[in-house]
Amino acid sequence: MKFFGQFPNCRPRRLRSSPALRRLVSETQLNPAQLVLPLFVRPGKKIRRAIGAMPGVFQLSPDELLREAERVHTLGVPAILLFGIPDKKDEKAGGAFAKNGIVQQAVRLLKKELPSLLVITDVCLCEYMSHGHCGIVSGGKILNDPTLKILAQTALSHAEAGADMVAPSDMMDGRVGAIRAALDKNGFSETPMMSYAAKFASAFYGPFREAAESAPQFGDRRSYQMDAGNSNEALREAALDLQEGADIVMVKPALAYLDLVWRVKQTFGCPVAVYAVSAEHAMIKAAAARGWIDERAVTLESLLAMRRAGAEIIITYAAADAVTWLKG
Ligand code: PBG
Repeated sequence: MKFFGQFPNCRPRRLRSSPALRRLVSETQLNPAQLVLPLFVRPGKKIRRAIGAMPGVFQLSPDELLREAERVHTLGVPAILLFGIPDKKDEKAGGAFAKNGIVQQAVRLLKKELPSLLVITDVCLCEYMSHGHCGIVSGGKILNDPTLKILAQTALSHAEAGADMVAPSDMMDGRVGAIRAALDKNGFSETPMMSYAAKFASAFYGPFREAAESAPQFGDRRSYQMDAGNSNEALREAALDLQEGADIVMVKPALAYLDLVWRVKQTFGCPVAVYAVSAEHAMIKAAAARGWIDERAVTLESLLAMRRAGAEIIITYAAADAVTWLKG
């Protein structure tokens, strides 16, 4: 882009002089239709368990999940991203792909009672593993290829329950292809996939691990999630996922990684999602509770920055508040 203008004939302030003029030249808008709200479901009845570091976020039993989903959908939230917290964990993530697992039950209930709500399921094993890792563990290592089968089985069980889209977040190599093949083979070739393509080993996931009860019991996730300093590698990850059949690629976390949202969008031109993760939410909530920042203004400005960087889809714990603010 070349620009040869000069003061005084050029005065950028001319187009900022009234609200109508500012709206006329606005380049980016937030669209409620592109916001996704993460929700957590656990077995039981009438459970609404608050998460310490995530004000406004709860572990919900299926009945309460339905109430919450109805409430936010009525407000204008078009889609949810569902995480399950099972009663029992083991070393094979049996609860992740059980026909009557907590996510499978919840999806059937939501799709029956609220068919117009888009239900996206997070496909991962850490919540279902006694050791809290996202794959099969042997000899202190997280094994890649044996994990693929379980991930594929899990994604398939979500599709069979009626999920509108599956979202693998485990960061094993080849999982997008394995899931795509399992879906296609079983009649779900039309079920889209949003892959967590560039998911970083991030301290910003801290509060989530309390919500999902998924903290690793030994070591960390650095052998599968990405190093915070790497950006070319994020492009390789996105390229691989797209080749394996991902329909939407995600960058996660959001604010600290917007350069990658931009690069992925510029490089591939594919639909891009970004996940404003638990600590991003917690930081805004904590500062707002002290009266140090304006929660509404800071939240909407952050979400707008994610759109400007190139993401269409924004996964955010503030989705219900944002749609309400955008309407008002
Ligand atoms: C599970 C998963 C995590 C998040 C989404 N899916 C946590 C992790 O990788 O430890 C984080 C979301 C958040 O912090 O809001 N694999």
